[in-house]
Amino acid sequence: MAGFITVTTAFEGLMYIAVLTAGGYFILNGTMEASDMIVFIMYINMLITSVKRIIQFTEQFQKGLTGIQRFHEVMTAVPDVDDTDNTLVLENVKGNIVFDDVSFSYGKDDEKVLDRLNFEIKEGEQAAFVGPSGAGKSTIISLIPRFFDVDSGEIRIDGHDIRHLKIHSLRDNIGIVQQDVYLFAGNVKENIRYGKLDATDEEIYEAARLAGAAEFIEALPNGFDTDIGERGARLSGGQKQRISIARVFLKNPPILILDEATSALDNQSEMVVQESLKELAKGRTTITIAHRLTTVEDSDTIYVLTDEGIIESGSHEELIAQEGYYYNLYTRQ
Ligand SMILES: Nc1ncnc2c1ncn2[C@@H]1O[C@H](COP(=O)(O)OP(=O)(O)OP(=O)(O)O)[C@@H](O)[C@H]1O
Ligand SMILES: [Mg+2]
Repeated sequence: MAGFITVTTAFEGLMYIAVLTAGGYFILNGTMEASDMIVFIMYINMLITSVKRIIQFTEQFQKGLTGIQRFHEVMTAVPDVDDTDNTLVLENVKGNIVFDDVSFSYGKDDEKVLDRLNFEIKEGEQAAFVGPSGAGKSTIISLIPRFFDVDSGEIRIDGHDIRHLKIHSLRDNIGIVQQDVYLFAGNVKENIRYGKLDATDEEIYEAARLAGAAEFIEALPNGFDTDIGERGARLSGGQKQRISIARVFLKNPPILILDEATSALDNQSEMVVQESLKELAKGRTTITIAHRLTTVEDSDTIYVLTDEGIIESGSHEELIAQEGYYYNLYTRQ
């Protein structure tokens, strides 16, 4: 466009200069009438207007074509995880989760992140994963809603291999607060409503209150209708986190996954949100990932995950008594 416009503008200017200079010369010479020159200038105007129209059209056409191509790319993308043949719908979920010899790597040639992992989280149990950064904690929980498929082994929920379930029914039953929160452009209310699309405004306010988010939302310029910018750019990390916690409160799922859900909060807000999360977790299967061990102390089972896999598991008291990895981590903190 820069090239196009520069050239046409220069062309336009040059045409006028040429016509005015030559016309002026001819009029002085007496070989042309002044009225002829005016007609000539009008012709030039017409010519230039049509040229400009063509340029505008070309620009619009190219933009439109690119848009259509992008749209087509998105619409024809084939998901890695396919459930077209599945008919099994997960209902009345109890929340028993079994990892049976699960191995997983992100790429074909990549190193295995999980190697023959085995554990069972019973219905209603509060499980926690702790361990060094990069051990694969977030990977484990992204396998449960089938963001990725396992390489070998299987994951079962209430006895069903999750690869046999309708993805929609699987994901409807799992609520996740992820480490990196995903918010959409739009306002606060819409972003919370994403947890349950048919929620009423009252339910949304209630969820925000439980997530400890109501206070800061009401302080925003337009309250719940405040636009939060692309990917929530206008909110702080802790505020984004609380919005995604509000989503889960709204969704009210039988299986709850919290990946560093309160890591971006100050101590005061963390305590408040932690209390509500504890309330939410009651009676549900809950998997918590936390670096701050005080947040997982009360869990029924704590799994210590390192690069070697699960090296210790048990309740807080049992792990402390073992004086192993967890004990060292705990006393250091
Ligand atoms: N999308 C991805 N593609 C390729 N490799 C990945 C991807 N996500 C994670 N990994 C790799 O998998 C390994 C485990 O990552 P994961 O995010 O599960 O760790 P984590 O235990 O959650 O760590 P943290 O405590 O820092 O959150 C890391 O070595 C990481 O480099
Ligand atoms: Mg992680």
